Amino acid sequence: MIGPCWHGRRSIYPHRSPMREARPFFHQRDSQDARLDMSSSSIAPLDPARVARIEAFGGRIAPLDPIGAEVFGIDLSLKEPPPEVVEALEQEMAHRGFLVFRNERQLEPEDFLRASCWWGGRALHSTHGIHPATPGGNQHIFRLSNDRRYGIPGVGPQWHNDGSFNAATFSHAGYHIVRPAEKGGGTYYAHQGAAHDALPEERREFWSRLSSVNSNTGVVHPAVHEHPVSGRRSLWLHLGMTGAVIEKLPDAEGFRLLDADELKRLCHQYNDVLNAGLRNGYAIAYEYQERDCIFIDNLAVAHRAAPEAHLPPEKQGLRIMHRSTVRGVEDFTPGHGLPLYLDIHGPSPLGDGVWQAGGIGFRWDDGIPMQN
Ligand SMILES: [Fe+2]
Repeated sequence: MIGPCWHGRRSIYPHRSPMREARPFFHQRDSQDARLDMSSSSIAPLDPARVARIEAFGGRIAPLDPIGAEVFGIDLSLKEPPPEVVEALEQEMAHRGFLVFRNERQLEPEDFLRASCWWGGRALHSTHGIHPATPGGNQHIFRLSNDRRYGIPGVGPQWHNDGSFNAATFSHAGYHIVRPAEKGGGTYYAHQGAAHDALPEERREFWSRLSSVNSNTGVVHPAVHEHPVSGRRSLWLHLGMTGAVIEKLPDAEGFRLLDADELKRLCHQYNDVLNAGLRNGYAIAYEYQERDCIFIDNLAVAHRAAPEAHLPPEKQGLRIMHRSTVRGVEDFTPGHGLPLYLDIHGPSPLGDGVWQAGGIGFRWDDGIPMQN
């Protein structure tokens, strides 16, 4: 077990408002058109002041197209960079979704875990099972593979954010590719702020009144939130662990549950708007290069495994990845006066509608693989 992540740190999340910045990339629309907005201009470019801080430290950052950024010259196995450099990196992660660190040599598992604690809640928060092949049996490494002898297979084929079953969720997650498959099999990442902006205005209003209930813990999360670092309004929904969605009534006090047809439509809309990012400039099908280490802002981007990631090793080559998860900074609380938890395992407190406990929760499409 490692223990480098528990000492006091500064935080760029002292509370929600100070780090909000001007958002020139926001755009206004008044369309009532039910189609998705096809704008591709809604991802913030790198901030020159932050780039300069990273370069002054000897690093280099370059945007990936259309989201994310790659970082060179910052060795994750060395001690943590000065606070202003970590802050610059963390803010770019919040705006662009994720950072890929291009490592010149393979990271040791302890180095990967230590670097994970540069971000967000500054401590590991590990809730997963431990595969027998995990180095040292380290409880903080979630070891994934397309071969069950080497890691846990089949995880995360649907759009999701890690740790949605927690009150705070995870602030960040790390993905260290130990062995990329020869024929590929990466991860899709979608920017949830840009996805929010891509919804037609009347749908954004509807989404802003929704909250999801986790099918396993009953924790309630907002379907639209303001990102704590970028300030950007962003969508949030787990497509493989949602047991109910609550609508705040538009013209009255009170709430109702979405029924099965409404929840199916909602999940499909979310799936569609994130997938559309692959064509419209706010999602990426990322293929790992040797030694890549990715850190994501888990409140800024949703992700899912590429279908190829789960193809058998005989067909695709062996893939092994280590994941780390970082403690959330603050509870991810629902609005509208809703409690942080509801008893999803008991009877519905809100009358008719989908109220489904356990496992993957509400199955909104029989043809889409779902696994947590
Ligand atoms: Fe995940």
